[in-house]
Amino acid sequence: MAKHLRLHNGLLMPSMGFGTLGLGGETKEAVKTAIETGYRLLETAPIYQNEPGIADAIEETIDRDQLFITSKIPPHIKTYDGALRIVKRILKHLRTDYLDALLINNPVPWGKEGEDFNKENLEVWRALEYLYDNDTVGVIGVSNFTEQDLKNIIDRGRIKPHINQLGIFVGHDLPALRDYCAENDIVIQGHSPLARGRVFKHSVLNETAKSLNVSPSKLAINFVHALGVAPVIRSAKPEHIKENFFKPFPLNEETLAKLHGINHDVRDYLPPGATRQL
Ligand SMILES: NC(=O)c1ccc[n+]([C@@H]2O[C@H](COP(=O)([O-])OP(=O)(O)OC[C@H]3O[C@@H](n4cnc5c(N)ncnc54)[C@H](OP(=O)(O)O)[C@@H]3O)[C@@H](O)[C@H]2O)c1
Repeated sequence: MAKHLRLHNGLLMPSMGFGTLGLGGETKEAVKTAIETGYRLLETAPIYQNEPGIADAIEETIDRDQLFITSKIPPHIKTYDGALRIVKRILKHLRTDYLDALLINNPVPWGKEGEDFNKENLEVWRALEYLYDNDTVGVIGVSNFTEQDLKNIIDRGRIKPHINQLGIFVGHDLPALRDYCAENDIVIQGHSPLARGRVFKHSVLNETAKSLNVSPSKLAINFVHALGVAPVIRSAKPEHIKENFFKPFPLNEETLAKLHGINHDVRDYLPPGATRQL
């Protein structure tokens, strides 16, 4: 896989990203380590409440234009004006005047699963199209959108989404949705490629990694690469941040078949009291 993926407006996106969900007080140091390691795509959202730490890390390490920053409209914001207001705040907190990618975080607000937000998503999409037209954002997209959610935007919007960011990991690799995105020239960013650490519970992943002499983390991330998806990985630990940034390696048919054959959804491996959502 190339070091970059080309989006349908021609913009290049790094094929490996650093995620910042839940890094809290460790954000600045983790992001600095990620940039020094070579990551050039940073992924955030206002609900992660870590934008000042990211801005500090950037100021101390690299020119803004060397980075590809993705942020997201929070799931509960479903109006045109609300979307423009939050983007103003995102830019202020990140101390930048543009985003490389801006996504709608979720088709429905948390807790409203099963309800129809097609009209509202289209309204937010119009705000994203406006920000795209005036060069505040390089590309626009969505996250956790199903085929139906995408169809609503593709059929009724003016600009087709450039990106759909989806939770993709061994045991949960969404072949039909990946095909639909490919048919529509939509690149997939793969969030949670380690399923928040739960992929390590797969004996098949661990045994296969051992037989290939690579770490389970590298194999899980490489599997996502092999699907043509750009993984976005999070870690607070310098040794993990470095381990997870590597040149993708080819996987033979047998290994791919083994990994595709994992059909246990690791999201079921829940810590006590947690919900199943990723
Ligand atoms: N659009 C959305 O709805 C959405 C949803 C979820 C996530 N995201 C984005 O995607 C990013 C990544 O997803 P995620 O944070 O859910 O989970 P993830 O990247 O799948 O997993 C992170 C977990 O794996 C551990 N880990 C990382 N590297 C490791 C290694 N080499 N060996 C062992 N453990 C390792 C980390 O612990 P340590 O810190 O100890 O290394 C952390 O607990 C997020 O940060 C966020 O930016 C987006």
